Amino acid sequence: MVGDNFAVPTANGAAPLAVQACGIRRWLGVGASAREVLRGINLELAHGEFAALTGPSGSGKSTLLYILGGLDRPDAGTVSVGGFPFHGASEDELARLRNRLVGFVYQFHFLLPEFSALENVLMPLWARQAGRSRQDRQWAEELLARVGLYEKRHRIPRELSGGEQQRVAIARALVGRPQLVLADEPTGNLDSVNAQAVYDLFRQLHRELHQTILVVTHDPHWAAASDRVLELLDGTIVADHRRAGTTQSYGKG
Ligand SMILES: Nc1ncnc2c1ncn2[C@@H]1O[C@H](COP(=O)(O)OP(=O)(O)OP(=O)(O)O)[C@@H](O)[C@H]1O
Ligand SMILES: [Mg+2]
Repeated sequence: MVGDNFAVPTANGAAPLAVQACGIRRWLGVGASAREVLRGINLELAHGEFAALTGPSGSGKSTLLYILGGLDRPDAGTVSVGGFPFHGASEDELARLRNRLVGFVYQFHFLLPEFSALENVLMPLWARQAGRSRQDRQWAEELLARVGLYEKRHRIPRELSGGEQQRVAIARALVGRPQLVLADEPTGNLDSVNAQAVYDLFRQLHRELHQTILVVTHDPHWAAASDRVLELLDGTIVADHRRAGTTQSYGKG
């Protein structure tokens, strides 16, 4: 179904959008508590956009991110990533597309408790029968170094603080050089120094690997330093600001 280079030509030769979501609806809950959490979301991200998704608690940010990342399916609407349709894909195909195309940082990090930080980072490569070469190991170690955890790479999750575990999860999401990175409050548990380091890492990899990045954040510095800010309210996108001439400064400095 999908070739190794994961590039699909389009009819007019233009590169497909990084993300194309049309008419996304999602109902959650059962019985009297069932409600429409996403109410007709249309969203396009061009390749290489560095975007933030904001909105109050319960507005549907995580639900939307899961659907864009192929971790959940909408009740109505369609999603394509890099031109590959997620709708209609079997569970196996979806898992394969997800592994190849999307790096996901969860709101709660979900590291495997019995594996070291380095092994957790290598996990997405193991899932595609890679990750055993010296090169792969060096790349995983480099990512851990960039999030300030090289010295602690052999520790298991319970020997790391919550913020350190979150940084391992960020390195894990990036190890496969995914074309789309979706991160759900990646700096939520971090102090300002580590939050700045994570922002710098995302920016640097965005520059080097030309990834498309969408980050759910309550951090006003992160949102202000993004090229595009989408705002969700009660399951609807109510604002979509693009910033011309991004300064890319973060925090007060
Ligand atoms: N599995 C579920 N069953 C029922 N309701 C759910 C389920 N998951 C989420 N919800 C509800 O859907 C709404 C949106 O949830 P979601 O987690 O997407 O919000 P969010 O914007 O990410 O919030 P936060 O900022 O607190 O993380 C909330 O009202 C939540 O209670
Ligand atoms: Mg959430």
